[in-house]
Amino acid sequence: MSEIVIVPGSSNAPLAFLIARRLGVKPARAEIRRFPDSEKYVRIDSDVNGKNVFIVQSMHFKPDEYIIESLLLASAARDAGASSVSLVAPYFAYARQDERFKPGEAISVAAVAGLLNASGISSLITVDVHRHRILDFSSVFNGKWIDVSVMPDLTKYAASQGLINDKTVIVGPDGEAIQWAKIAAESVGVKEYGALQKKRYGDEDVKVSGSLDLKGKNAFVVDDIISTGGTIIEASKLISDGGGKLKGVACAHGLFVNEALYKLYSEGITEIISSDTVPNQTTRVSSAEALSKGILSIVK
Ligand code: R5P
Repeated sequence: MSEIVIVPGSSNAPLAFLIARRLGVKPARAEIRRFPDSEKYVRIDSDVNGKNVFIVQSMHFKPDEYIIESLLLASAARDAGASSVSLVAPYFAYARQDERFKPGEAISVAAVAGLLNASGISSLITVDVHRHRILDFSSVFNGKWIDVSVMPDLTKYAASQGLINDKTVIVGPDGEAIQWAKIAAESVGVKEYGALQKKRYGDEDVKVSGSLDLKGKNAFVVDDIISTGGTIIEASKLISDGGGKLKGVACAHGLFVNEALYKLYSEGITEIISSDTVPNQTTRVSSAEALSKGILSIVK
């Protein structure tokens, strides 16, 4: 097997170290800082010549900064003779702007993927990446794309905490989330799963509707991202209006912006589980194992 080098970006170095440990490799040393005028400086201070470099960079909260940093690291790795350069983006930003909703808008996910292509990144590994209008990232990213899932680990953890049993209904809060609900249900042997419908009117304004039969049943909601929490709060209301009981919620990427956790807790939604793609106080599950497998599937 060709040698693997893990280069930790500055967004989520602990996850990069966990991945490196799972793969049994020493993480590269990367010096990342700012010049006084705030431009980024990067330097890979390890031998990458002839090796397969994997830059680990989540893109939460400061996506623009982390994208530029990844492009600089990719450039440095290539110039230093890396045989391949891949980007491991546990949380891949800009995926939700995957359509021109209004004339004049950018299709951001395509623009960002284009930057990765232009910088010679040959493979992209993501975790439960937002896929709604663009289902296959290969349509915007020219290299090899692998999406791994933490839904099974999240759901198994929830089951171990008594939040899911074989009679629970796994619910996706919108049509796109049926894919997460299916994976989650199958991973713990739950038979019933389904999805609600969502209409978005603004950044924090969503309406969830749907006709799942949840009367007298326990529900567990799964989604790829919780950002403002609006989607989950609306789904929770619909579930209780329909006579169901929400036992908990899991997401791959817990952004929890604009006091989302406070709002969720205020609505009585306190059992919330997320992964370490975006480290936060609800993180219970690591994506390191799934990502390591993704890396190994590229470097055979
Ligand atoms: C979009 O459809 C995603 O799958 C999530 O449902 C969405 O990002 C959640 O956003 P928020 O928490 O702001 O409602």
